[in-house]
Amino acid sequence: MKIAIVGASGAVGQEFLRILEERELPIDELLLFGSQRSAGRSYRFRGRDLTVRLLQHNDDFRGVDFALTSAGAGTSREFAETITRYGAVMIDNSSAFRMDADVPLVVPEVNPEDAKNAPRRIIANPNCTTIQMVVALNAIERLSHIRRVHVSTYQSASGAGAAAMDELVAQYADLGAGREPHVEKFAFQLAYNVIPHIDVFTENDYTKEEMKMFNETRKIMHSDVRVSATCVRVPVMRAHSESIWLETERPVSVEEARRAFAEAPGVVLMDNPSEKVYPMPLFIAGKDPVYVGRIRKDLTCDNGLTFWCVSDQIRKGAALNAVQILETLI
Ligand SMILES: NC(=O)c1ccc[n+]([C@@H]2O[C@H](COP(=O)([O-])OP(=O)(O)OC[C@H]3O[C@@H](n4cnc5c(N)ncnc54)[C@H](OP(=O)(O)O)[C@@H]3O)[C@@H](O)[C@H]2O)c1
Repeated sequence: MKIAIVGASGAVGQEFLRILEERELPIDELLLFGSQRSAGRSYRFRGRDLTVRLLQHNDDFRGVDFALTSAGAGTSREFAETITRYGAVMIDNSSAFRMDADVPLVVPEVNPEDAKNAPRRIIANPNCTTIQMVVALNAIERLSHIRRVHVSTYQSASGAGAAAMDELVAQYADLGAGREPHVEKFAFQLAYNVIPHIDVFTENDYTKEEMKMFNETRKIMHSDVRVSATCVRVPVMRAHSESIWLETERPVSVEEARRAFAEAPGVVLMDNPSEKVYPMPLFIAGKDPVYVGRIRKDLTCDNGLTFWCVSDQIRKGAALNAVQILETLI
C-alpha cells in the first residue's frame, strides 16, 4: 500500500507518523508533503528518513492508495483534484468538504458504513470536538433517541496547531520574565485565561466551531438532534474536555448510561467520584479512547443526563480517526 501524508510537519501530520508507526498496516511506501516551509525536511518512519516533498499540481499522487491530508481547508480545496485524480482516496482532516452531500463524514465507531460511499474519493474527518462527542453520544442513542444536547467545550491550545502550542509556552515564559506576551494564534492572551471564541463568529452569534458541532453531529448520527454548543479555548496543551448535557426520548438512568458507556466501542468509563476518578486532559493526552465520567441525572429535566468527556483531539479527534477510516476501507 502506498500512503501519502499532506501536512506532515504539522501537529496532526506528526501524529499520523506516530500512529502509522504503531499500527500494523501493510505500508510499502510513505510519501510526505508540505509547503515551501517544510519541504526538504526529513522525518523518521520505520527506521528510514523520509524527505518532505513540496505539494504541487503534478503527478506525485500517481499510484498512491490513500492520502491523509491535514494542511488546512484552503490547501485541501486547491489540491483535492490533484490528489484524487489517479484513484487515491483522500481522507481529509480539514473542514473543506465535511458538509458536502457527496462526501461522507465518518467516525468509525458510529457510521463506518458511510465510508463505502465516497463518489469523489474524498472522505471527511469530522471536527475534533464533534468526534469525541458523537462517540460518547452513540452509546446513549442506542438506549433512547437523543433529542437535544447542550455542550460546553474546554479546548486545548494544540487544537489550533503546532505554532499555537509554542505560543502558549512562550506566553507563560514571557509573563514569568516580566515581558509582554506575544498574541497571534488566539484572539487574546491564553496563558492564565480562557477564551470563549474559537473560529469566526457567524450571523447567529455562534462561532463556526459551535455550528460544526450542530451540523456535523446530525450528519454523522443520521439524526435530527439539535446541539447548542459554547466552544472555549483553555490553557491546556493537549486533549479537549466537554461538559455534555443531553435529553433523551425516554428517561435513561445513570446505571443504564454507565453500562452503555462501559460497553461502547472507543469509550472508556472513568467514573468513581468518591475516589476522585474522572478524566482530565493532563492524563488523557497521548491516549486513544474517549473517556467519560461524572455521569449524573439532570436536576431540571426527567429525561436529562449530564456527563464529562475528555479525549486527545490530535489522536481520536484527528489522526487516529482518519487512520481508523483507512483501516475500515482496507
Ligand atoms: N490540531 C488539531 O487538534 C486538529 C484536529 C482536527 C483537525 N485539524 C485540522 O487539521 C489540519 C491541520 O491542523 P494542524 O493542527 O496539524 O496545523 P499545523 O500544526 O499548523 O500544521 C499545518 C500543516 O499544513 C501544512 N501546509 C500548510 N499549507 C500548505 C500548503 N500550501 N501545501 C502543503 N502543506 C501545507 C504545513 O506544512 P508546512 O510546515 O510546510 O507549512 C503543516 O504541515 C487543519 O485543517 C485543522 O483544522 C486539527
